[in-house]
Amino acid sequence: MGEGRTLPRMIITENVSKNNMQSRFLVYVSRVIPEPGMSLLEQQSNFDVKFNQYDRPPTREELLREAKDCDGVLVLTTETIDEEFLWNCPKLKAVSSYSVGVDHIDVNACTRRGVLVSNTPDVLTDATADLAFALILAAARRICEGDRYVRQKKWNSPFSPYLLVGKDLSNSTLGIVGFGRIGQAVAMRAAGFGMKIVYYSQRRVGEAEGSTGARFLPLDDLLKVSDIITIHAPFTPETRGMIGTREFNLMKNSAVFVNTSRGGLVNQKALEEALTNKTIFSAGLDVYEKEPLPQDSPLLNMENVVLVPHIGSASVSARAGMAELSARNLIDSLNGRVPKAVVNTTLIHK
Ligand code: DGY
Repeated sequence: MGEGRTLPRMIITENVSKNNMQSRFLVYVSRVIPEPGMSLLEQQSNFDVKFNQYDRPPTREELLREAKDCDGVLVLTTETIDEEFLWNCPKLKAVSSYSVGVDHIDVNACTRRGVLVSNTPDVLTDATADLAFALILAAARRICEGDRYVRQKKWNSPFSPYLLVGKDLSNSTLGIVGFGRIGQAVAMRAAGFGMKIVYYSQRRVGEAEGSTGARFLPLDDLLKVSDIITIHAPFTPETRGMIGTREFNLMKNSAVFVNTSRGGLVNQKALEEALTNKTIFSAGLDVYEKEPLPQDSPLLNMENVVLVPHIGSASVSARAGMAELSARNLIDSLNGRVPKAVVNTTLIHK
């Protein structure tokens, strides 16, 4: 990843322009991030870096206290950046998130205050698409049920024609809800598995239709025709709970449902009911309405759901890429350069 561009004719935010006159910046990192992220920040000669030394998110109190006098913060999705936080940090100029999702940040409030928000797209696309595909395979072919079956010493006949029979991928129809970078990367994988691909998105994506053979469908139609449904939409007030009882009822009883995006896109109670009542066949989940998944969640007792703990981007290269990009985004934001991945682009005027 290269250094952020210095664009002489570009007027960056009032705040960022003022940064050129400021010589030192205090930054807070809410969690130790992988290399090269920490080193990049600590090697910045004009940065004073403090970080949360615990292997857990900071409490709200710790976050507000540590970020109070900071010029910039590097945060994870576990930290909520809202009006209260911004009031608490009057010197704040930049929020860099170690994530592609920014639903934990009130971006509009940041924009109103001239606080530049940046994130980590692209570097985690393949890792997240891989995990979505792993969940598709695991939930369709009952991999975790099979693993439990062997470990629980239930495997006592060498081969059984009806044991753990699952769903086919080849020649089946994959419905992709949300067709941005990750949705399209899932489509590329599905094409290799000989699946037919349909997608629903706020806007049609012509180029990706060409390269993956995906066909646009309205959401209800997609839910009706798909054998496997995977969610890759951004989590916004508009998409909250977009998959609920009505939507599960539209799906085939044989459908496999996968979510690696955000738990809040799905009404989890409705999903639990759909799995219990066999309205759908199975599910694979990386994300939940509440994380970590509460110990008393009914999902924990269901055989037909594969559960993993929000690890979509948990590959070595994705995490290193996120660390490097989020560190560079913060460095560039404070040093008056345009960071590579700005969220509130309206703060940057040509
Ligand atoms: C992201 O990047 O948004 C992932 O969910 C990690 O938080």
